[in-house]
Amino acid sequence: MSFSAGKLILFGEHSVVYGGLALVASISRGVRARVVQEAGSEKTEVVRKAIEVAGGDSDIKVKIESELPVGSGLGSSAAVASSVIKTVREYLGKPIDQDELFQLTMECEKVAHGNPSGVDPASVVYGGLIAFIKGEPLERLKIKDPIKLMLVNTGKPSETTKEMVERVANNPDKEAIIKDIGQLAERAKKRLVEGGEISQLINENGILLEKLGVVGERARTLSEQLRGLGASVKITGAGGVKTGSGMMIAKAKDFAKIRKLLDNSQIDYFETTVGEQ
Ligand code: PMV
Repeated sequence: MSFSAGKLILFGEHSVVYGGLALVASISRGVRARVVQEAGSEKTEVVRKAIEVAGGDSDIKVKIESELPVGSGLGSSAAVASSVIKTVREYLGKPIDQDELFQLTMECEKVAHGNPSGVDPASVVYGGLIAFIKGEPLERLKIKDPIKLMLVNTGKPSETTKEMVERVANNPDKEAIIKDIGQLAERAKKRLVEGGEISQLINENGILLEKLGVVGERARTLSEQLRGLGASVKITGAGGVKTGSGMMIAKAKDFAKIRKLLDNSQIDYFETTVGEQ
């Protein structure tokens, strides 16, 4: 059996498209995979590719259990690929090291995403915190103090990431907002590595994403309610405006009131920790 953690963008989505810093952290939830003799899970393209790059025969069956919502920016496809590659290599008696696992997971991500930045595989394989600037090598960092977060599902976006990136490109005020997001990410990086409170920075990044026009009405209303209960809130990932805006990060000293609101409103959420490794 092997486990690979999912990831989330803590700071810097969209701004990263324009050369800003993005901070990506692995979360405590993820994907488990094992080779089985009985009926395995359905083989998606990514699973088939993962078995192949691990050197397994096409008749190998794997059972996959995922705690990650699919297509919600939590690195589900990279975590599936990585956990399948690891378990197949264990089964073949050829354990894999992290650097090779990163290379092979990247191969699978090309199947899933065409031209991936490498952030998801890096986060899933190495864990911790990844600092990413387009066109530069990934920087692997360690979060000083693990952070407890709530991940709230505001609904699956109707738009693709590409459509949301285009939407931002059409925002006449984007330049200043994107610059501010980039600066926030720089400040957050220092605090995450050296220790320090990031609640305020999360909230500021969240508000800037709302100004950028990537947060829909449902998620904005929910953000307001959660902020009213003392939480710091931002969406994570590309966002969406027509229906849902994807997963939202909520950080608070006391989650009890937030849980109650979400339970009463029948909104899905889970609690996770970043920076545990
Ligand atoms: O939700 P995701 O994993 O698709 O995040 C997209 C992040 C963006 O900055 C919006 C796009 C990108 O390519 O970096």
